[in-house]
This record gives sequence, C-alpha cells and structure tokens, in this order.
Amino acid sequence: MQIISISSLKGGVGKTSVTLGLASAARVQGIPTLVVDMDPHADATTGLGVKQGQDIEGREDIGTLLERPRRVSMADHVIASGWPDLTPGATETGVPGGTKVLDVVRGSSRTSLFERPTTRLRELRRLSTLLESVTKYALVLVDCPPALNGVTRMAWAASTDVLLVAEPSLFSVAGTERTLRALDLFRKEYAQGVHSTGVVANRVRPASTEHQFRLGEMERMYGDRLLPVAIPEQGNWQQIQGAAWPVHAWPGETAAQSAELFEELLSALHRPQGRRSQRRH
Ligand SMILES: Nc1ncnc2c1ncn2[C@@H]1O[C@H](COP(=O)(O)OP(=O)(O)O)[C@@H](O)[C@H]1O
Ligand SMILES: [Mg+2]
Repeated sequence: MQIISISSLKGGVGKTSVTLGLASAARVQGIPTLVVDMDPHADATTGLGVKQGQDIEGREDIGTLLERPRRVSMADHVIASGWPDLTPGATETGVPGGTKVLDVVRGSSRTSLFERPTTRLRELRRLSTLLESVTKYALVLVDCPPALNGVTRMAWAASTDVLLVAEPSLFSVAGTERTLRALDLFRKEYAQGVHSTGVVANRVRPASTEHQFRLGEMERMYGDRLLPVAIPEQGNWQQIQGAAWPVHAWPGETAAQSAELFEELLSALHRPQGRRSQRRH
C-alpha cells in the first residue's frame, strides 16, 4: 500500500486541491484509494462530498480514532466519497461492476489536539497503527494541516512518500526548501519508511515572467525532487470544489486539462503494488 502525505508549512498553497485532484485521477484509473483528512479544517472531507447526517452514521472522525489507535479498526470508519460518477455504465459503487474505489476517513477539529510537538515514538506512530487495519486500498492520500507539528509528523511517520506543495513565489520557494530540510532530518530518525520526497508547483501562471523565474529557481534548488508536472492557476477551481465534484467529471476544456495533469502527477508518484520507486530522495 502506497501512503502519500501531501503537506506544506504554508496554508492556501493547494494541499487539499492536489489531494482531491490525485483522488479524482486515482478514481478514474480504478485504483482503490483512501483519503485520510488530517487537517482540522476538514476541507478534503467537504470536497469529497461527505455531508453530516446519513453519510457519516457511526463513523468516527480521524481525531477520535487517533485517540485510541489500538482499540479501533479504521476500516470500520471509512465513508464512501459522495462524488458523482458520470462514466457510462458506472455503478453507484464506483467503477463498472467494481467495489468502492474512493473512501475517506473524515476530518474534525479533534485532530488539533495532536498538534503538540513530540518525539515520542508511541505518539508519532498513532496513524501508522490505524493504517495497519486497512487492507483494501492500493493508495492512501493523507491531506495534512498547514503546520509541521505533531499531526504532519504523524503523517510523515506513516508514509511511503511525501509530496510538498509550493507556489512559485519568493517566500514559498525558500520556505519549501527549509521544509525539505526539516523533512530530511525527521526522516532519518522517525520516518525511515519514506522512500521519496518531492515538490509539486501549484497555481503557476505560465504567462508570468515572475513565475517562470521562480520555477527556474525551484528546479535549481530542488533538483529532481521537483516533480515534472506543474499545476496552473485555474479560474474554475472554487466552483468545482464548491460543488464537491471530481475534476474529471467537470465539463469544459480547462477542467479536462487539469484532469490530465493530475493523471500525469499520479503516474509520477504512484508505484503499482510491490514496486519500489525509481526516484529515491
Ligand atoms: N491551481 C489552482 N488554481 C486556482 N485555484 C486554486 C489552485 N489551487 C488551489 N486553489 C484555490 O486556493 C484555495 C486554497 O487551496 P487549498 O487546496 O485549500 O490549499 P491548502 O489545502 O494548502 O490550504 C482554495 O480556494 C482553492 O480552490
Ligand atoms: Mg487544506
């Protein structure tokens, strides 16, 4: 099972958007995927179309599950995404004739209780322990809060890959470089299961000379840790996310282009079961 954390110290750079784009790409490719919403803001849960009420009956949120990871089975608390599937012949459960391919463990403000700094292994392994009880997924996407404290570190400790999201702007480029260094230090001691770390540029305006300059800087600073796919600024994202739709189901040329980019990003990140990464950083 590949476990990818999507993180950054800065908020609003596109962690949740990248998580949802990757989830949408994995879904059309029929890769059984679980999204774990570790941000107390719970935007990924909302973006996946999970509503209070019927959808969540009896399903605990991730903050509650993290409180007693050895005594609960996370598999009992996953919720099917509420995304519509518009592919011809699709069943309610996802791919034609298939099982559910996209589930979520919902986020909640309770997760903020774990934002305390800690180096205790027992604390850091709470999410890893929970993930031991889920077996039906090939891919787990962990959407992190905009911080490098307890919650993000718990996510890193459980991950096989870490993806940082950065904007091509002055502070974001330098800040991400420092985050990569913090991640490398943490990995050595507490997250040896992380095979690869990468950076994806988001909200890129191809016509902006400032953005082109910053992208060049990112290439120089991050080397081949910079993923070969840059996500452009898209005018209709708020609309797509507000409707809680997958980008692959949204009509129009710009959504189709984004959908394709997320498939490329997923191919650059996803290793089919059992295969180790070509990229080891
Ligand atoms: N590539 C993009 N184009 C346009 N809007 C974007 C893009 N990426 C993110 N956004 C918007 O920016 C806001 C913050 O993005 P979000 O994914 O919530 O960031 P984070 O999870 O890092 O806080 C959201 O309103 C989102 O729709
Ligand atoms: Mg977010």
